[in-house]
Amino acid sequence: MKIVKTIAELRSELAQIRKAGKTIGCVPTMGALHDGHMTLVQKSAAQNDATVVTIFVNPLQFGKNEDLDSYPRRLDEDAALCEQHGATLIFAPNPTAMYPSDPQTFVCNESLENLYCGEFRPGHFRGVLTVVAKLFLAVQPDHAYFGRKDYQQAFLIRKMVDDLNFPVQVVLIPTSREASGLARSSRNEYLTRDERNAAAAIYAGLCAAQEEYAEDERSVGVLRTIVNGAIEHAGGTIQYVHIVSQETLLPIQGDISGKATILVAAFFGQTRLIDNLEL
Ligand code: PAJ
Repeated sequence: MKIVKTIAELRSELAQIRKAGKTIGCVPTMGALHDGHMTLVQKSAAQNDATVVTIFVNPLQFGKNEDLDSYPRRLDEDAALCEQHGATLIFAPNPTAMYPSDPQTFVCNESLENLYCGEFRPGHFRGVLTVVAKLFLAVQPDHAYFGRKDYQQAFLIRKMVDDLNFPVQVVLIPTSREASGLARSSRNEYLTRDERNAAAAIYAGLCAAQEEYAEDERSVGVLRTIVNGAIEHAGGTIQYVHIVSQETLLPIQGDISGKATILVAAFFGQTRLIDNLEL
């Protein structure tokens, strides 16, 4: 398994793979890889002849006061994990390889990028969509793999692929969780042991709401209160809890009809965690 750092090297490696008539899967990541990322790599390795994992902590998607500098970086360990799980190539550019000059061209979703996470992370989804578009153009994969854990991100990427006719099939992978139910995340490393235990309340709250939904509770207010209560009881601070349409990602008011998903962001200590559950 090779590690390449520039788009030119990447293109030359991929040209050989493509010339051999092989299919290419791409798994975009920011590194600090864990078992959740590996479920994406494994799926790609199973469905494609070659799997490219991209590892790039994308400055464009971090806000001024966010954790760009402290975000964990450990390329050697990440590469070893990828190789174990069937990756063929790692693309690990540095910021100047991805952004040789200050970019003036961006990909945005004008309708949805300022909702939910976007409300609290202005510019975040513009950064995500722009870098994913650049990665798609650099790798030109047949399939690209994203986690359902980042629900709004996955929705916006699918919409971008539809809107801009990217010739790539997006495959979404279920959320991988720790034994406690906590969704795996590179940012879980920031949690103290107590915070990590307490943060299991996010998924517990989502499951409690789902149980009520299964008992025919359809009130958005009631279901949100269940999730809020579970998280606050465990000492977490809610940033938002919304119930959204799976079709449009828009918030549902009043009573739920049609397919809906609960989206949550909450702090445990200083660490911001997100999760979701499809009802
Ligand atoms: P990152 O947070 O590293 O996540 C990379 C991919 O792994 C994303 O598609 C994410 O949804 C998925 N993932 C993370 N934790 C997961 C879990 N517990 N279960 C299943 N999938 C999980 O998301 C990003 O990086 C960036 O925004 C990126 C798309 C790479 C653009 O910079």
